[in-house]
Amino acid sequence: MLSSLKIPRIIGHRGAKGYAPENTLSSFRKAKELGATWVEFDVKETEDGILVIMHDDDLDRTTNGKGPMAKTPWTVVNELDAGAWFDQAFSGEKIPTFDETILLLKELKLGANIEIKPCPNRDERTAVAIANAIAKKWPKELPQPLVSSFSMDSLRTAKRTHPDLIIGALFETLPSDWKKIAKEVQAQTINLDQDIVTLEMIKEINNEGYPVLTYTVNDKKRAYDLFNMGVHSIFTDYPWKE
Ligand code: G3P
Ligand code: MG
Repeated sequence: MLSSLKIPRIIGHRGAKGYAPENTLSSFRKAKELGATWVEFDVKETEDGILVIMHDDDLDRTTNGKGPMAKTPWTVVNELDAGAWFDQAFSGEKIPTFDETILLLKELKLGANIEIKPCPNRDERTAVAIANAIAKKWPKELPQPLVSSFSMDSLRTAKRTHPDLIIGALFETLPSDWKKIAKEVQAQTINLDQDIVTLEMIKEINNEGYPVLTYTVNDKKRAYDLFNMGVHSIFTDYPWKE
């Protein structure tokens, strides 16, 4: 099912979230330094539609700003500090744009899982913007990215916008009708919370032809146990070289 995509076993979660402020260029550089070959990061839009890398809907936790990203224009977002909250050593770190991130990935030769993380009620427009940006700007030198989301509306829209995209369906818990959903959004991977996966579940999903990716696995032994259970890849805050 993944003919055109070779996903590594170890994927740096939000870069290398355990060592550097998540979803920043420093975090992606750190993941590379640690030997990761792919990183995962979250993409959403500012109020005025600039694609930026951030996990939360609100600015409060990971920047010195306040309030929803969806109500903040890029000129304000661009002034925020996205590093000092993690460690003073990272003060001055900016929220990266998707464009800047793509350029850095190219420079570092890092592959990526791009997670569409739309602000509330922006599932479709954010998906279109991301799909178009990938189609236009993704470097040919890099492997094709995996595009995932918890929002099935986003996945459906992204795939419709650019049918070549490789889609990963993210679930916190596996719905009983997951096969129908996966087919409908044309997913090629199933991405799950490691806390809910069972051997039976992994087998069932693998038997349907889907690789299983699990987040967030910060214990090495657990990672190798999951691989032995049939998990294809893990997302970790502490990526390592294999
Ligand atoms: O894609 C794996 C993982 O990033 C999903 O959860 O909340 O960290 O984006 P979250
Ligand atoms: Mg994510």
